[in-house]
Amino acid sequence: MRFDNQISRIAALKDDHPGNLALQSFDADYFASLTEAEQGRLMNCLNSGIENPDSEMGCYACQPSDYDAFRPFFAKVLARYHKVDEDARHVNEWSLEGIEGLPSGGVLDLAALGLPALSMRVRVGRNLTDFPLPGAMSRDDRVRLEGKMMEAFSILIADPDYGGAYHSLTPGNPHEIDDAAYQALVADHVMFKDMSNDRYLAAAGIAADWPYGRGCYVSEDRGFIIWVGEEDHLRIMCMEKGSVLNRVFDRLKTALDKVSKIDGLSFASSLDYGVVTSCPTNLGTGMRASVHIKIPNLTADGTDAKAKEICRPLGLSVRGVGGEHTPIGADGTVDISPSARFCITEAEIIAVLYKGLSLLKTHEAEAS
Ligand code: ARG
Repeated sequence: MRFDNQISRIAALKDDHPGNLALQSFDADYFASLTEAEQGRLMNCLNSGIENPDSEMGCYACQPSDYDAFRPFFAKVLARYHKVDEDARHVNEWSLEGIEGLPSGGVLDLAALGLPALSMRVRVGRNLTDFPLPGAMSRDDRVRLEGKMMEAFSILIADPDYGGAYHSLTPGNPHEIDDAAYQALVADHVMFKDMSNDRYLAAAGIAADWPYGRGCYVSEDRGFIIWVGEEDHLRIMCMEKGSVLNRVFDRLKTALDKVSKIDGLSFASSLDYGVVTSCPTNLGTGMRASVHIKIPNLTADGTDAKAKEICRPLGLSVRGVGGEHTPIGADGTVDISPSARFCITEAEIIAVLYKGLSLLKTHEAEAS
């Protein structure tokens, strides 16, 4: 059999890597029931988790239809990771109305909690329906997708509410920027880092053909950004230093509605699973809402261990300010974001952030 090798590797790795959800959810009988073409597709999704047995998720979707096509596999992975039932259905909703525990009027003002102005950021992952997901794209696909997005960006650039410019890493692109300009955008948290350094993305094929088809659109005020060609086709985000979370949340919703209405752009979604993303950790909303906050007392030992212990029950994840898998800042600045993305609404995510920060502030004060 064509996949005997991989099947036995999975079986051999399974016992020693209980935390690798894709390996744990792989069912050889289900796999055997698939056609050879389907088997190839599903094996592609698992490649990153086989090559990196220390993975927590251990798989990425490679086609927009993979979650629906391989539901018996993905339902298990999703249930385990997101702690939901295997038949859970996702619902999208941006309205804060009816969510409990928020200030009346719905203004989520961190200053009212006694917090200083913070870097606030909300991003969503989006993928176009008419391309493979990044793990299965050819170099030509990546460049064609970038070309299609450049047409869409010209509409934003012509609009005084957005303006700005597109910056490309693709050799020969008319908007190509040099390495120094790229590094400056990375340092400003505007552009993403070289993905080929991420072994999970590399093994998934998502980092392939770097830097072809990679770039970012940045609005005139630098508060609205669209990454092209990272882990998802698009990462669409709003950033601002301030106190009112609604500002970045509402601006993102408005911008997202505008972009999704541009002719020819259709975002992949699943009837039961909501927004389709490469990584099952992001499925549903594709949303990560975060702030950078200084918590020197909870990080006094130089690690994020205490902060993580406090944040976990609040539904919050702790990262370094350099992004995923980066250490915390020397001054105790960390990136805090709600952990949930799936079977939670967009509005609930922003509410979890607001309520969690209120409690985190109390814990930080108590730890002094
Ligand atoms: N593939 C890695 C794992 O399974 C990372 C998953 C979450 N991170 C991400 N950027 N999607 O552990």
